[in-house]
Amino acid sequence: MKTKNNFKENIIKKEEFDSFSAGIVYNILKTLSENKNKISIALSGGSTPFPILGLLKAYKLNWEYFNFFMVDERNVPSSNPSSNYGNIEKVFFRDISSRNYSMINEKYSIDNCAIDYENLLRSKIPLSENNLPVFDLIILGMGNDGHTASLFPNTKGLHESEKVVIKNRVPQLNTDRITLTYPVILNASKIIILAKGGIKKRVLNEIKIGTGNQYPVAKIINSNVDTTCILGI
Ligand code: 6PG
Repeated sequence: MKTKNNFKENIIKKEEFDSFSAGIVYNILKTLSENKNKISIALSGGSTPFPILGLLKAYKLNWEYFNFFMVDERNVPSSNPSSNYGNIEKVFFRDISSRNYSMINEKYSIDNCAIDYENLLRSKIPLSENNLPVFDLIILGMGNDGHTASLFPNTKGLHESEKVVIKNRVPQLNTDRITLTYPVILNASKIIILAKGGIKKRVLNEIKIGTGNQYPVAKIINSNVDTTCILGI
């Protein structure tokens, strides 16, 4: 269903959500790989994407054309069970011939990991005229509080207007996260938002009727970036 700006929403029965989402992502990656052989994709963690990526890897693609990056990460080594990179490595990266890049380098502080990752993105991904990396596709999740990436409500990271990758202090979780920022997320060619459940449906509905602008994901939905939300209920 097409709504305002460049935002489309697909509402899918929960039992079909993973396979439908994997098919949508496959079609985007297939089209990209028919037009170029250096493709930059950013993946979110959480839990929603993992079964979808587990299905996606079975599709036939020129996986060597793809560079996969992280949207955000917890302040833990990839061996930790809550590591987004570690979890995606297990279900996806280890089974495809793409290059992939973790945000965390255990030798560095999280501040230096953010600086290092920004330099990596700037070296691996074409920059647009506003000197920001242009991801071909960013796959986002969203929390029940309307956060996306690790841009949580009432956190400093929401106000970052220059940097591409930052450390974001998340008091409500009593932790530091490393995350892409709005400037680079909103510079992507295409965004997919994966969301499941009634609470996220309510958040999305508030945003669509204009009463949900306080949710961090609203800035994405209300942008002009080609954005598709796949909602499983
Ligand atoms: C993370 C994610 C985060 C995630 C949402 C939704 O590090 O947790 O990147 O932004 O997308 O929290 O998580 P679920 O998919 O588990 O609902």
